[in-house]
Amino acid sequence: MLFNPRPKTRKDEFYDREFELMTLERAVEKKVGLVIVLGIRRLGKSSLVNVFLNESPYPGIRIDARQLYFQHKSVSPNALAKEILEGLIRISGIEKVKQLISGIRGVSFMGLSVEIKREHATLTEILERINEFGRFVLVIDEAQYLRFSKASYVDMLAWAIDELENVTFILTGSEVGLLEDLLRLHSPESPLFGRPYVEIKLERFSREQSLDFLKKGSEEVGIEVTPDELYEAVEELDGIVGWLTLYGYNRFLGLGHREALGRLKEDAVKIVLSEFSKLKEISPRYELIMRIVARGRHSWSEIKRSLEVIEGKKIDDRNFTNLLKNLVKYGYLEKTGEGYFIPDPLVEEAFR
Ligand SMILES: Nc1ncnc2c1ncn2[C@@H]1O[C@H](COP(=O)(O)OP(=O)(O)OP(=O)(O)O)[C@@H](O)[C@H]1O
Ligand SMILES: [Mg+2]
Repeated sequence: MLFNPRPKTRKDEFYDREFELMTLERAVEKKVGLVIVLGIRRLGKSSLVNVFLNESPYPGIRIDARQLYFQHKSVSPNALAKEILEGLIRISGIEKVKQLISGIRGVSFMGLSVEIKREHATLTEILERINEFGRFVLVIDEAQYLRFSKASYVDMLAWAIDELENVTFILTGSEVGLLEDLLRLHSPESPLFGRPYVEIKLERFSREQSLDFLKKGSEEVGIEVTPDELYEAVEELDGIVGWLTLYGYNRFLGLGHREALGRLKEDAVKIVLSEFSKLKEISPRYELIMRIVARGRHSWSEIKRSLEVIEGKKIDDRNFTNLLKNLVKYGYLEKTGEGYFIPDPLVEEAFR
């Protein structure tokens, strides 16, 4: 079902993105070592890589670095190694995995779960074994969370890209600027500098795609939606497929147009504010800036002036610029020639 609200895994539930799927396919086929999938939240990065893995003739698994971080407050090499082995068990069975890693010390199995006792080497040893076995795709979803580790994953990636010709790494990131900061692909000092890679930037759906998505999704589940309702939903949700899906899902559950949009907005505000809470903890100014932009101030100086009025004091230019830059890195603001904008209408709504 196109309106299934979970990240998609099956092609028949996945609308379009044909170009992106083909780009992934070609990159893996050509043994490109590194592919980066970028895009703000809810544009379908996880779904894209899931569907790709499902359709691809090459074996592969997806690891969610964001989830690992929220579980352990860091993303250690052992946690990654464990995830990789458990993923492999799911796709090839435990016996094959035991065979694959035979001789690597410090790994034990408890049913279908894996325990890793030894520090260091294990992760690279496992990757070497995978490489010997044949072509393999390792997706690290929300890879900017790899920065929460004592290990230097960028060095490890550079090593893997040079040495493991059978493995393609696909890294996704919704906090686009943070992932770029971590990889520094264009910086001569970065271990990854000069390595070939393919970048895919997921964009919002166009108006036509959004309308078509809602139309096809409604037809699929047999609900009546009028053209006016479709236009209004697309107008309000602006090509963000995650929100279009939730609107459609609410309609599928039996809500009318107004209620479906209303419920979606209520839920979206809660989701967005909860996602934002970690930034708010770092500095309450992040939230104030978002509120100022959501209420229609967009230029550097207008936003700064409003923040100074709220706080009743002058703010250092450099500090202020850093706050804005960080909001851009996290994907909450986009910088254009006209100033700073919130790229997602429901994020804007949450701060209004
Ligand atoms: N091409 C698509 N066709 C149909 N539904 C989609 C498509 N892409 C994404 N979705 C739906 O949109 C929602 C968000 O998708 P997904 O979780 O894959 O996005 P994401 O970019 O990984 O988001 P996040 O940044 O929050 O991790 C899900 O409900 C998913 O089912
Ligand atoms: Mg995702």
